[in-house]
Amino acid sequence: MGRASRILPVSDPASFERAARVLRKGGLVAFPTETVYGLGASALDAKAVLKIFRLKKRPSFDPLIVHASSSVMARKLWRRPPARALALAAAYWPGPLTLVLPRSPIVPDVVTSGLDTVAVRVPSHPAARALIERFGAPIAAPSANLFGRTSATTAQMVLEDLGGGVDLVLDGGPATLGVESTVLKYEGGRFHLLRPGGVTLESLRRRVRVVTGSPERRIESPGQLASHYAPRTPLALAERGAAAWIGERRRRGALPRKVGVLAFRARPRTPGVRACEVLSRAGSLSEAAFRLFQAMRKLDKMRLDLIVAEAVPSRGLGLAVNDRLRRASAPTHKSTRNLR
Ligand code: TXA
Ligand code: MG
Repeated sequence: MGRASRILPVSDPASFERAARVLRKGGLVAFPTETVYGLGASALDAKAVLKIFRLKKRPSFDPLIVHASSSVMARKLWRRPPARALALAAAYWPGPLTLVLPRSPIVPDVVTSGLDTVAVRVPSHPAARALIERFGAPIAAPSANLFGRTSATTAQMVLEDLGGGVDLVLDGGPATLGVESTVLKYEGGRFHLLRPGGVTLESLRRRVRVVTGSPERRIESPGQLASHYAPRTPLALAERGAAAWIGERRRRGALPRKVGVLAFRARPRTPGVRACEVLSRAGSLSEAAFRLFQAMRKLDKMRLDLIVAEAVPSRGLGLAVNDRLRRASAPTHKSTRNLR
């Protein structure tokens, strides 16, 4: 089968039956969600889920999010979900909120990396829901990229990373949010933010108290790993803007030759910038989130020595954008030794 034939448009209803058939046979289907593209397998088929880990080169201790098409389907994945958590799910689903709660025995160990909890969400993207409905069972799906790299927000980005390994890609155009879901764990009577994402902290805090950070000190969510969501080109985070950062480095004679900038609102007025991607001329944080991973990948292909990324205002979706930029700027981990 050639490359092109593995991509099917979501505009054709027949695509969903073909994709569901692939899942039933234990295969992998990449599909659009409102956040980023997911790499899906039948969540209740341990052998199929194992293929996700292999293809992504994802360490086996990094658990997956299970996607359901309804709250009814979602509830079956948990053991005695508390009413407060269900109320929050009802407020945000379908949508970019992932809830981590004690798991039901029907969920295979491989999905949760042996943890006694499972992360679940009901996506709002019509193609994602249509796929789960057609398949008739929950789908385990991490972001459809190589482990540690930037998430894929288009079908082309999925193929760049995962090429021949995925059986079928449902193409629904660019993912509308552009950053991953918010991961929230309910434990000890409190909600803990494990990863900022598409549902903002401000919005959550209008409904419930949210503690930032994992309830345990150990790393629980590799979304929490220092280095993650990273391009191959070294990336520096400029908290006070790219112009100031570059100027300071130049004065010290410490600026590499080929510098690219991931700017928030405008190209910095400073010499020596080879390439620049502007996230949002209007200063919109949702536009910045939407463009983030595509812009990062574009700069990553230019053989630059360094990408200088500007931090965006830390409110609303800006929290998720800055989180991804911070992790992209951390030195990359060569092994899993330093992950725990
Ligand atoms: O928007 C999204 O969430 C996308 C789309 C495809 O739904 N998915 C996604 O999956 O970003 P992934 O695998 O790239 O990130 C899932 C995050 C990881 O940081 C993982 O460690 C965390 O969720 N996670 C999953 N299960 C968990 C659990 N039981 N306890 C704590 N963290 C968990
Ligand atoms: Mg990911």
